[in-house]
Amino acid sequence: MSDQMLKVPRSLRRGGRLEESERSVRDTLKIIALVCRNLGIDNLAESRILDMGCGYRMAKSIIEQDILIKKYVGLDVFRDMIEFLREEVNDPRFNFHSLDIHNEMYNPQGKPLAELGALPISKESFDIIWLFSVFTHLAPHDYSEMLKLLRPYVRPGGRLVFSLFVNEVTPSGLGFISSVNKKFEEQAKENTKIFMDKFSETYNHEYATAPPFVDFDPTQPLKWAIYSREHALELVQGTGWEVESLNDPEDAIQHYMICRPV
Ligand SMILES: C[S@@+](CC[C@H](N)C(=O)[O-])C[C@H]1O[C@@H](n2cnc3c(N)ncnc32)[C@H](O)[C@@H]1O
Repeated sequence: MSDQMLKVPRSLRRGGRLEESERSVRDTLKIIALVCRNLGIDNLAESRILDMGCGYRMAKSIIEQDILIKKYVGLDVFRDMIEFLREEVNDPRFNFHSLDIHNEMYNPQGKPLAELGALPISKESFDIIWLFSVFTHLAPHDYSEMLKLLRPYVRPGGRLVFSLFVNEVTPSGLGFISSVNKKFEEQAKENTKIFMDKFSETYNHEYATAPPFVDFDPTQPLKWAIYSREHALELVQGTGWEVESLNDPEDAIQHYMICRPV
């Protein structure tokens, strides 16, 4: 473990877990292991990573746990957090940039994703582009636009990995639908009824009949952006990527998709 610690002020910890818990570190380590396992590599020592919607969690874990990595670029719409990371992380392998992209939940005043044009990074310079808990908050029009936006930055032979909410029950019992179900069985909260009404409206064991997209709680737009399997796959078409796999949730991650450049 490194002696460099990244103490992120509470005000900059929105969106992720509020407490800087061991669980958060454990989860990031599991996600990194999952990426390596899926891409058939031992570690990230030779990987140049683009982390879109980076938050602070991955950078913090990579730095504090001395994870081998060749290069890491984090992009996010949360400007103050990116400024903080730029100031605090003095390691030439790391770079951070803020983007003014619209997101109803995170950056409602930003520019539409489709109008962004280019990113402040070099083309074809990343072995892995990943987004964790970002598509879980993207509307369908931004889903495809995000994929198109990222495509020029992957190296030939590189991969894209992202997590998302898929509207289906999985054999392991993990995933959005199961966790919501469990949560509301366990908690008799005041707002349970809203969720349960919405839940029964949208949920169907046969995922093929699930609606293409559900913004699960419209009172908190895009807090839970849920896709049918079919729609999640079809939105990749025409973006310059092809789907390698859409995988069931695991302990530290929702469903996740792996794509390669066409
Ligand atoms: C739930 S947090 C996940 C953070 C990080 N990826 C992680 O796994 O800890 C979602 C992050 O995505 C960022 N975000 C949301 N929409 C975005 C967009 N269109 N472009 C870039 N970042 C975005 C938010 O500011 C936030 O930091």
